[in-house]
Amino acid sequence: MAEVKPAAKALEDALALLAAGEVVALPTETVYGLAGDATNGEAVARIFEAKGRPRFNPLIAHVSSLAMAEDIAHIDPLSARLAEKFWPGPLTLVLPLRESAGIHPLVTAGLDTIALRMPRGFASGLIERLGRPLAAPSANRSGRVSATTAAAVAEDLGDRIRLVVDGGPTPVGVESTILKVEDGRLRLLRPGGVTAEEIEAAIGVAVERRDNAAIEAPGMMLSHYAPGAAVRLGVSSLQPGEALLAFGPRRAAGWERAVATKNLSGRGDLREAAANLFSFLKDLDRHGAKTIAVEPIPFDGLGEAINDRLKRAAAPRGEHRD
Ligand code: TXA
Ligand code: MG
Repeated sequence: MAEVKPAAKALEDALALLAAGEVVALPTETVYGLAGDATNGEAVARIFEAKGRPRFNPLIAHVSSLAMAEDIAHIDPLSARLAEKFWPGPLTLVLPLRESAGIHPLVTAGLDTIALRMPRGFASGLIERLGRPLAAPSANRSGRVSATTAAAVAEDLGDRIRLVVDGGPTPVGVESTILKVEDGRLRLLRPGGVTAEEIEAAIGVAVERRDNAAIEAPGMMLSHYAPGAAVRLGVSSLQPGEALLAFGPRRAAGWERAVATKNLSGRGDLREAAANLFSFLKDLDRHGAKTIAVEPIPFDGLGEAINDRLKRAAAPRGEHRD
């Protein structure tokens, strides 16, 4: 079983494992990541193995400085402005990969682009000490809900990895926003911890959504974040035997009958709701209800990312999972 070690004491252990080509689960501001040296093919292969993740689904490479990012990818002026405004933070940029980058091709699944992000906190210090980028998908088994606590990582992956670095609950709670600049236009490949409104306000360029983003970000298959229970969205009335994932001060009709209830944010705060989303889905799943009923959640701000994850949690369970 993996050792769970507080972040304050785990830096040297994590470094030693990563330098030896092993994988380590660690906190970022969004969700926990399962990290390995992005230049080491064996390390990257271990990430895919531990997660049970299909290999055509590329990983995000995490950097600790702009200089490290520039060594890996060609950064156009608009992407550079985004990096300047939002790094370190929950924003991932898809950029043309440099041939000289030294990134193992398993990381990009053979694409000529790479997804790059500069995280905050423990991960950042670790990458700086290692001096190499870390490939890190969310630290959950493929298809499962992402982990926002060290305990959730240990439960999901503890028998497959050696170290989980415990940095407490992750503050953002949903994964990073993924953007790609194309011909000076901003395309949203995945809504996440930085909202479209924040990006537009900071940069003055419209964020474009496209229906085919699912194909462009190969991991964005519909069935994803799947709890054991079925998920029913936008409920105004509860059916017998359902668990309730609530939002805001007013309850759906029949809420008293819920086998269990968790409120993402009693005061209707989307930031709080995002931080609670994955752990509350897991909590409700533990009650063994056949269905988790979810109250409507507004689509603005972080609501876009929350609704995106819930839609995937509710989708019919397919073969392809992240
Ligand atoms: O917040 C996050 O982004 C977390 C933390 C650990 O950093 N990571 C994360 O990684 O969510 P993962 O692997 O679960 O999701 C990465 C997504 C996938 O949907 C993948 O398809 C997409 O990024 N992606 C990676 N490389 C890409 C590329 N070159 N072009 C388009 N999409 C890419
Ligand atoms: Mg994931």
